[in-house]
Amino acid sequence: MPETTPRGLSRLAFGGDYNPEQWPESVWDEDVRLMREAGVTMVSVGIFSWALLEPEPGAYDFGWLDRVMDLLHDNGIRVDLGTPTVAPPKWFYRAHPDALPVTADGTRLAFGSRGAICHSNSAYRAAAAGITIRLAERYGDHPGLAMWHVHNEYGVPVSACWCDSCAAHFRRWLETRYGGVDGVNEAWGTAFWGQHYTSLEQIDPPRTAATVGNPGQALDYKRFADATMRENFCAERDILHRLSPGVPVTTNFMTALSQCDSVDYWAWGREVDIVTNDHYLITDGRRTHVNLAMAADLTRSVAGGDPWILLEHSTSGVNWQSRNPAKAPGQMARNSLAHVARGSEGAMFFQWRQSRRGAEKFHSAMVPHGGTDTRVWREVVELGATLDSLSTVRGTRTQADVAVLWDWHSWWAQSLDWRPSVDHDARERADAFYEALYDRHLTVDFAHPEADLSAYPLVVVPASYLMTQEAGRNLARYVENGGTLVVSYFSGIVDEHDAVHEGACPGALRDVLGLTVEEFSPLLPGQQVRVTGPDGPELTGDVWSEFVVPRGAETVWTYADGLAAGHPAVTRHRHGRGTAWYVSTRLTARGLDALLGRAAEDAGLPSRADLPHDVEVVRREGASGSFVFVVNHTATEAKVPLDGAGTELLTGERTAGRLAVPAGAVRVVHLDG
Ligand code: GAL
Repeated sequence: MPETTPRGLSRLAFGGDYNPEQWPESVWDEDVRLMREAGVTMVSVGIFSWALLEPEPGAYDFGWLDRVMDLLHDNGIRVDLGTPTVAPPKWFYRAHPDALPVTADGTRLAFGSRGAICHSNSAYRAAAAGITIRLAERYGDHPGLAMWHVHNEYGVPVSACWCDSCAAHFRRWLETRYGGVDGVNEAWGTAFWGQHYTSLEQIDPPRTAATVGNPGQALDYKRFADATMRENFCAERDILHRLSPGVPVTTNFMTALSQCDSVDYWAWGREVDIVTNDHYLITDGRRTHVNLAMAADLTRSVAGGDPWILLEHSTSGVNWQSRNPAKAPGQMARNSLAHVARGSEGAMFFQWRQSRRGAEKFHSAMVPHGGTDTRVWREVVELGATLDSLSTVRGTRTQADVAVLWDWHSWWAQSLDWRPSVDHDARERADAFYEALYDRHLTVDFAHPEADLSAYPLVVVPASYLMTQEAGRNLARYVENGGTLVVSYFSGIVDEHDAVHEGACPGALRDVLGLTVEEFSPLLPGQQVRVTGPDGPELTGDVWSEFVVPRGAETVWTYADGLAAGHPAVTRHRHGRGTAWYVSTRLTARGLDALLGRAAEDAGLPSRADLPHDVEVVRREGASGSFVFVVNHTATEAKVPLDGAGTELLTGERTAGRLAVPAGAVRVVHLDG
């Protein structure tokens, strides 16, 4: 069994991507001296180094990496060693130009960036295996090696290729999935628009066509592209397990949907030994700390609740958005510790030393261009000491209150063309429900629709358009056994092939919700509907409305105007021993809060109204004890009630009853007992 924690790492992971090949060797000694000063425990090395490790086919230059590995090991810094298969050298592409990916409209991408790979290409697969074997043979038992880091962020920047090798590979994949062309015709509904096939050989990737293509084909192509990348990951992982036994293997995920939406991380989470994640703040005017919490919760969920590692984030600004603000003083530590609260076993960065050359020279780093007499460096050193004081949280698990359903296949299906409204954005609804739960101080686990939900008093389904019958039965069982379910509109509509479930919508959820939807009636831009209830405040909806017909459910809020006037907008259905809520319009934040308040009451969840807004309170528990993390995102001191007494780990102070957390600060209490 491979290990599930970095080998030889006895503290939280703290460090970053270390690219010594960008610097003269004379800088390396200063690097490790500064790493020790900052308390760095692990660095990621060699992720993009293939062209320097194998400058010509079969001619290797490992000398520099030998020296880096030894230097780091001699200084007590563990190494997360990359297989550089995300960046094949130019000589490789000259010999195999068809390993460059082709877009849906037939354009072959050029060399000169990174991650330009056709994952079906057999020459690429052979070359990736070759360099992985050489690295594993050379460093597999190096005493400084903590874990293997395969490739980099599969799915970014290229998530699929539409070339002829992929076409052939896709046909093989279809054969395995459907057993032949008849199965494909049935699944994709090719009777429509004359798309019927008489042999698998006729089937191509969904290339740019006259107008909208076949949705079943498009959805399967996303599954195929994801599975093909995973085949390549598993091939490298198996080599590493064989040649470097006992050393865990990871690949860095990007679970935030806005950063990578082409990878089914439920499936990937089962293949890696340790889940690791990269997270960057997206500055689009929304509350970045909420997006961060959501990504961290999702990463932990993909890891099955086990600890995971934040492998990359930024010390300050990034360089790839239109505008890249610096982080405010203290924000880097707050971001880092918010990840730790939600299960990360440390905080690592891209990258150690800020590059002078190349496309990322304006991206912040642990050692900025300005060196050590800088705010960022001082905060880095401080964070190293903070993380050191938190070593005892290692191995504990974050405790969640509620589950939110999450399924990448459903996202893929919803991203296809020709839906009832372009204004319905599934991700926006997921974000909005998450934010409403966050503001109620409820910690969220994400769950696959077919997962066991019995541990959660409340399950929220924000936008699960694609839902199998099995998932629908799972949710019905959950409610029958006493659970409380909240379902948002346009959920449970189609099956795994993007075919509408038989009968009235929402086919997978009709019975548990006790209603049918006769018609969707999306609203026009700027149009709003009033939603009134006998015992609730008046609410507002936009984007979507529906003609809901109750078939057992009671109406709690009703459309007061618009085409659906008089129809239920929010319903509640007692089903078995539990309750299922349904909301058929896009409520504002206030409306979501009112709805979730009612559902939380049904679920018997505690009200946390005494906790201040924008102050996160999250618990980790395990063999080493109970830890309460309090992250104060506000500009004023926060006072947070504690159940019990304990020791605050950052200040060493004893605390009981009530904890004061200064503006912008983080406190972690190790509860007695
Ligand atoms: C990540 C990537 C790093 C670096 C970083 C910049 O997505 O893995 O190599 O490019 O972004 O933010």
